[in-house]
Amino acid sequence: MAETLQKVTDELRQGETFAPFAEDPNLYTKKFYIESYGCQMNFSDSEIVAAILNEEGFGATRNYEDADLVLLNTCSIREKAEQTVRNRLQAFRKVKEQKPGMLVGVLGCMAERLKAKFLEEEKLVDIVVGPDAYRSLPGLIEEAEGGQKSVNVLLSREETYANISPVRLDSNGVTAFVSIMRGCNNMCTFCVVPFTRGRERSREAVSIINECKDLFDRGFKEVTLLGQNVDSYYFNEGEGLENAVTFAKLLEMVALISPLLRVRFSTSHPKDITDDVLHTMAKYPNICKYIHLPVQAGNTRILQLMNRTYTREWYLNRVQRIREIMPDCGLSTDIITGFCSETDEEHADTLSLMEASRFDMAYMFSYSERPGTLAARRYKDDVPEDVKQRRLEEIIKLQNGHSRESYKNDIGKIFEVLIEGNSKRSDKDWCGRNSQNKMVVFPKGNANLNKGDYAMVKINEATSATLIGEMINN
Ligand code: SAH
Ligand code: SF4
Ligand code: F3S
Repeated sequence: MAETLQKVTDELRQGETFAPFAEDPNLYTKKFYIESYGCQMNFSDSEIVAAILNEEGFGATRNYEDADLVLLNTCSIREKAEQTVRNRLQAFRKVKEQKPGMLVGVLGCMAERLKAKFLEEEKLVDIVVGPDAYRSLPGLIEEAEGGQKSVNVLLSREETYANISPVRLDSNGVTAFVSIMRGCNNMCTFCVVPFTRGRERSREAVSIINECKDLFDRGFKEVTLLGQNVDSYYFNEGEGLENAVTFAKLLEMVALISPLLRVRFSTSHPKDITDDVLHTMAKYPNICKYIHLPVQAGNTRILQLMNRTYTREWYLNRVQRIREIMPDCGLSTDIITGFCSETDEEHADTLSLMEASRFDMAYMFSYSERPGTLAARRYKDDVPEDVKQRRLEEIIKLQNGHSRESYKNDIGKIFEVLIEGNSKRSDKDWCGRNSQNKMVVFPKGNANLNKGDYAMVKINEATSATLIGEMINN
């Protein structure tokens, strides 16, 4: 289960997977089915949508052929992610031909990007709803049930869904995502997110803390605070700076809920991750020592063209500070190859930055031009596809070596592991992650432990994505 979740989180970042989930135990008069693609934020949003639909008498089903309402929560980050959604719609089309009353809704970033065009291009779609308009779903469903196709893609400066308690979908009961902010103001030139998610806004600190407390009370042991750019979280409840909650402060507030509640966060932008955040991480053992710090490219000219607002040196300096303050911190990144006008020398700078930073893991992509972005309007997508791919293969090869080495270096170490469930291969083994976000598998033995318990595990073997060990007496 945990590995499934990990796999889902890994794949979803690449924008092309869907999450099945448990059937709702309550009885509802109608059934909905939802599939999520894209980033963790979309998965988290689907849990908000499920809460809204439950209120309307819709219960969840795992089987879309049974559903009265089929929803796709979509991603636009790369062209391939959009293509996946289009292909998926074909499968739904077949069912709808047999069952004309079934409603099909498109949610998420692709809905926002394409708006009413979706209804023209994909005739089976009845409802199109953008990421800030999920509260209007009941009204839109009612219209669609009356035969009227409907669209709401209004972006908002305020919507944070703060007062909606998400219904946990496909949950392992141990780890959960908690959205702390929405939107993004960064305007990286390659990125569609600012257009599909709107302006950045932070959610009220109290409602975040309450959600985390409630999760802990219900037996969850780990929360991942989510946002496109979590380090720029800022909420001020009253007048004056003394009431201001920065990301470092919020992290501390969540960490203080209980030492048994682990805290993770994603994603950090290199320009915003302050020493204050790093010191807060170092201070609390239950804040996981793991940072996802997307670099995108290792050359300063390319970083400027991408509007990342930092240089190669700035990034390397941040990595150095992380290593100084938390020598045991796990580090991962995102990299794009073949951005507009990138030369072979500039690509080599990405390779050398990888050598210097030694990431434990990386998500790597070739550049995919997105309509409407500044790069699409201003720069030529002029690196040939085969060159983009060759560069991608080079960075993947280099990273695979680094990952293998990083995992191998853990042999002999002892880690605290939060048990997320049975290992994928055998129900005689547990699996869970260490603080650094590495998956650890170990035999259950005779110890009377359960999902959600912590175990001390000594590592004996490693692959490039899993540590294998044995429990030691605490
Ligand atoms: N907010 C996060 C990234 C969210 S998108 C951040 O700024 O770090 C996840 C990743 O998708 C990005 O880090 C980037 O590496 C990749 N990505 C975004 N747009 C892309 C595009 N047009 N082509 C290829 N990869 C892209
Ligand atoms: Fe996109 Fe940049 Fe915002 Fe990340 S920070 S979501 S890459 S615009
Ligand atoms: Fe995709 Fe939107 Fe997330 S474009 S990566 S689902 S914010």
